[in-house]
Amino acid sequence: MAFRIAPSILSADFARLGEEVRAVAAAGADLVHFDVMDNHYVPNLTVGPLVCAALKPQSKLPLDVHLMVRPVDRIIPDFAKAGASIISFHPEASEHVDRTIALIKENGCKAGLVLNPATPVSFLDYTLEKLDLVLLMSVNPGFGGQQFIRSVLPKIAEVRKRIDKLGKDIWLEVDGGIKTDNIADAAKAGADTFVAGSAIFGSKDYAATIRQMREKLSVV
Ligand code: DX5
Ligand code: ZN
Repeated sequence: MAFRIAPSILSADFARLGEEVRAVAAAGADLVHFDVMDNHYVPNLTVGPLVCAALKPQSKLPLDVHLMVRPVDRIIPDFAKAGASIISFHPEASEHVDRTIALIKENGCKAGLVLNPATPVSFLDYTLEKLDLVLLMSVNPGFGGQQFIRSVLPKIAEVRKRIDKLGKDIWLEVDGGIKTDNIADAAKAGADTFVAGSAIFGSKDYAATIRQMREKLSVV
């Protein structure tokens, strides 16, 4: 199993964002996780396509755009143009989930669906085969630095089963409260891609933290 680590720039120093992206790239990250919040779908406000476009040339890493905005469709082409590789959205934020998935793909990006801690796995019933990524939230979306909700572990296992049954290369990403001491639990449950904001950007040595995470993953 290939494991991927996606530092969330939500916990980076926003006065030095370009430098922070270069730093996590040099530290061995696989993706840059880009949290977009609108003070509407979630009670916080972050960054949009302009900042995404500005960060794109800062590293070769794919930009993993996590949209916490409602509505979603209008802004998708803008993020595609801004260099997003993956665009994920919450089904509650889209009037027509199937249409939004198609729109992301038409714009040349990989499509991800995000399930909140209380959102049922049944949202994958007619969508999974069209997705490139399922993102399971292990906190309620809106803020970095929250506590990992452990009840997501059986949910990860359930989604892992569905993906394996389908036999498609769909990434299973987990987002929220991931640290060096619980990343292996999420991996054991079946996740292969790990968002970590405060754990990486809140540490002194990004490379050492990512290395520790990989060490924990290597014994799963
Ligand atoms: C929360 C965001 C997360 C957040 C994770 O709504 O989607 O990506 O940045 O931060 P940590 O790793 O600190 O929980
Ligand atoms: Zn996120």
